[in-house]
Parts: sequence; C-alpha cells; structure tokens
Amino acid sequence: MSDKLIIFDTTLRDGEQSPGASMTKDEKVRIAKSLERMKVDVIEAGFPIASVGDFEAVEAVANAITDSRICALSRALGGDIDRAGEALRGANASRIHTFIATSPIHMEMKLRMSPDQVVENAVKAVKRARQYTDDVEFSPEDAGRSEPDFLCRILEAVIDAGGTTLNIPDTVGYNLPNQFGELIHTLRERIPNSDKAIFSVHCHNDLGLAVANSLSAVLNGARQVECTINGLGERAGNAALEEVVMAVRTRQDMFSCDTDIDTTQILTASRLVSGITGFAVQPNKAIVGANAFAHESGIHQDGVLKNRETYEIMRAEDVGWHTNRMVLGKHSGRNAFRTRLEELGISFDSEADLNAAFKRFKELADKKHEIFDADLQALVTDTSTREVDERIRLVSLLAHSETGETPRAIVTLSIDGGEQKIESTGGGPVDAAFKAVEKIVQSQTELQLYSVSNITKGTDSQGEVNVRLEKGGRIVSGQGSDTDIVTASVKAYIQALNKMLVPSERAHPQV
Ligand code: KIV
Ligand code: ZN
Repeated sequence: MSDKLIIFDTTLRDGEQSPGASMTKDEKVRIAKSLERMKVDVIEAGFPIASVGDFEAVEAVANAITDSRICALSRALGGDIDRAGEALRGANASRIHTFIATSPIHMEMKLRMSPDQVVENAVKAVKRARQYTDDVEFSPEDAGRSEPDFLCRILEAVIDAGGTTLNIPDTVGYNLPNQFGELIHTLRERIPNSDKAIFSVHCHNDLGLAVANSLSAVLNGARQVECTINGLGERAGNAALEEVVMAVRTRQDMFSCDTDIDTTQILTASRLVSGITGFAVQPNKAIVGANAFAHESGIHQDGVLKNRETYEIMRAEDVGWHTNRMVLGKHSGRNAFRTRLEELGISFDSEADLNAAFKRFKELADKKHEIFDADLQALVTDTSTREVDERIRLVSLLAHSETGETPRAIVTLSIDGGEQKIESTGGGPVDAAFKAVEKIVQSQTELQLYSVSNITKGTDSQGEVNVRLEKGGRIVSGQGSDTDIVTASVKAYIQALNKMLVPSERAHPQV
C-alpha cells in the first residue's frame, strides 16, 4: 500500500511574497476555493501579523474553506503566534507554522542569537502554538545551509515540545538533489523521536532545482511537500505544485506514495493564479504551459496519432486541458453561462458578481462571436468583477494610429467620481494612451513590465495585458483583457494604479 504524500500549498503566502504578486482578500479566497476543489491538504493562507489586511485575508480563507486545513505563518515570537491563532479561529481544521533561522549566517547576522537561544525560542514558540491548535509545524529557516548536528538537536527538542510537522526549507535554493535527499535521510535516521513527526520540505528554485530537490526528499521519506501553483514565490519561486504532483503520479514505479490531488483541476488553478497575479506562464512550462502538450513536428504528430504513448507520458485531459471548443455565443443565457463556469470550477459569491460577469460576457460576445473556455476564465479575473477599490475608472478611450502620422490617444478617466479628459502623443497608440493616463493621474510610477498575449487563437482573440508598476520600492501588477489591445492595456494600467493607491504597510516574515 502506498503512503500518502501531503500537499501543502503556499501560493497565498510564499507565492504572494513575489514582488508584484500581492492579492486582495477576495482574490485569496477565490484561489483557496480552487485549491480546495483540487483537494490540496493544507493551504498556507498568509502571515497574519504582517498587516490588518493580511490578518483579515487569513481569517476570510479560514471561514470560507471546509475541506482543506488552513495554515498561518508566524515567526517564533509570541505576538506572531497569537495573531495566527486568532486569524484561524473560524477554520474547520487549522495549523500554525512557526519558524526561526538555524544556519550559522542567519543566526549570527540576522537574528544575532546564539544556537542555545534559537533552540529556546523554537521550543517556546511551538508550545505557545499548541495552545491554539494541536497541529503545529516548525521550520528551521535556511536548513539547507544549517549544520546537520544542530538541526538534529533543535528538531528533537521541537518534537518534544509538540511539533507535529518538521519542515526542512532550502530557503535560498542552494542544495543539490542528492545532497538534499541525504539531509532528509540523515535527519530521519539520527533524530531519536523522528517517527513522532511528519517530515516536510520547502524548496526554492534559485538553481532551478526546487522540484528535483523536493522529489529527492520524498524518495528519502519526506511525506509533505510545500509548493505553489506555477512555482510562484520569492525570487525564482518555489517548487511548482503541478510538477511535483504529476511527477509522483506519473512515476508511481519510483515512488511509494501518492497525493490525493484531483489533477483535472490543475489548469484552472494555474490560469486563475496567473490571471490574478499577472505572472504569466511561459509557453514551454511543464504541465501548464501552452506548448506542454502541443506536438509541433510532423514526426511527433504521426507517432501520437498512431499511439499517443510514443511521445506523451501524461494525458492532457488529466491535468485539465480540454479541447478549446466554442462553448457559448451571443445568444447564450445566464444559466448556460453560469453552468459552463461551474464546469470550469468558477463560482460566484453573490448574484451581483455573477450579473457583472454576465454583462461583460454579453459585451464580449457582441465583439467576438465564438467564446472559448479561456475567454471565460479571463473574463472572471478581469477588473469589473474584482474587489480592487477602483478610484480610477476608464470612461472612454480614442486611440489613433496612421502610417506617417504621430500616434495619439484621447483618454477620459473618472477619478473619485470627477471626470478628466486629456490628449497625448506617443511612440505607438499604447504609449500615447499610457502617457495620457499618467498626465491625468500623475502617479510617478515606473513601468517595469508590459506584456501582451492572445488568450485564444485568431486575430479576433482577446489580448491579455500584464502591467507591473514600481514606486518607492513597492511593486504592483495589473491585468486587463479586451479584443482591442489598446483598451486591454489601459485597463491593466488603471488596475495597477488603483492597487498602488491603496496604502500598504506590511511586514515581511523573513526580513
Ligand atoms: O523559504 C523559507 O525558508 C520559508 C520559511 C518561512 C518556511 O518560506
Ligand atoms: Zn520560502
């Protein structure tokens, strides 16, 4: 009989630590519901002490989810743990995840604590967390660069204090697969009470090894993997959930464990996360990239048609790739719209949200008579159905480009209810429109990223635009979709500006 491999998703916590990937409370709840549908075991919803907004987001996820366990992060500090415990009060099943750094460089330079003090703090933190829940996870931060002897010492003490999951993070993505697997093996062998806790791993992707390191750990007895949708996360990201899950499922000949994940939900979750965060998925990304199951060369196509296993090791449908068929059109009604979205795993919290999305669908169907699943997914993550406080709204846009003429745009915006109209020229119609918006808003933000991609095939496809803005070290992103890419661009820009207008004072857990 194979063991269970616990999937701990940290898209809403470590994923959100990616600069520009911050999510609103409603967005977090929407992603959490998608993870719950996927049967993720544990959802790390955030770091409640970071800000009031972070606390409320964890609380909202804890109240909205019934099937997955909800986890909150805390440093090994009393105040952090109490805040995590309070945020999780409404959860059906809860976990507090507390951590402290254990590598010589972190203890000396960051914490300025002796190893003895670190052990003492870890034990205290776990005991305090146990007052709120009997499910307590402990992480020795930067374990990948910590001394194995010290790890054995602190982890043994933490298990005695009531820690139930020991998570071994390769915080800076420094380890190699054989080395990391060996570390897990050593810890399990040498810690006398290791059988009283589940070993977990949390790998960062700085050397592109997060998934390989996680799998090596699983082969050496880890029974929980921490991961994120699309591999989102600090710097180069975390191990990608979809890759870990599909590697274990596809290579059951090598693993003596498997997850409970409903893999058919993977693509929907991937699109939801990339739509909300604006972190696009590269076409050649494993499992969820647009080309992951595309067979370009004639030889491959021939082979796949004769017997799909000649070149395919997984079935596209098993991870949620449906044939991108036309699902709805101009005459489709509200019920058909709602039903198709439900089939895609998208539900609405209120009739008002459904009505707003249906109105956008009708507008889109007037411009584009074939509506595909991907259009519907973009539509529900588009501005009009999101919870961003929209102080700035697009009223109208006229963009003009003509051979031999300077491109120009006239933009009318409503800001806090008052309308302003301005004309600007630029290198192209998008540049002219952005300059007009900036003349009105005077945000003094810097455009860090601008990208356009087509949602479906064909020149009548909607363009999906991602914009990332920076101001004073803070980074926000915005997304917009429309059949007119200048309009999509302005929508994305305005969404990012609206996010920038919301003040943010949040603490980073690891700094
Ligand atoms: O990377 C890391 O070490 C973390 C810890 C908080 C587990 O994210
Ligand atoms: Zn991390």
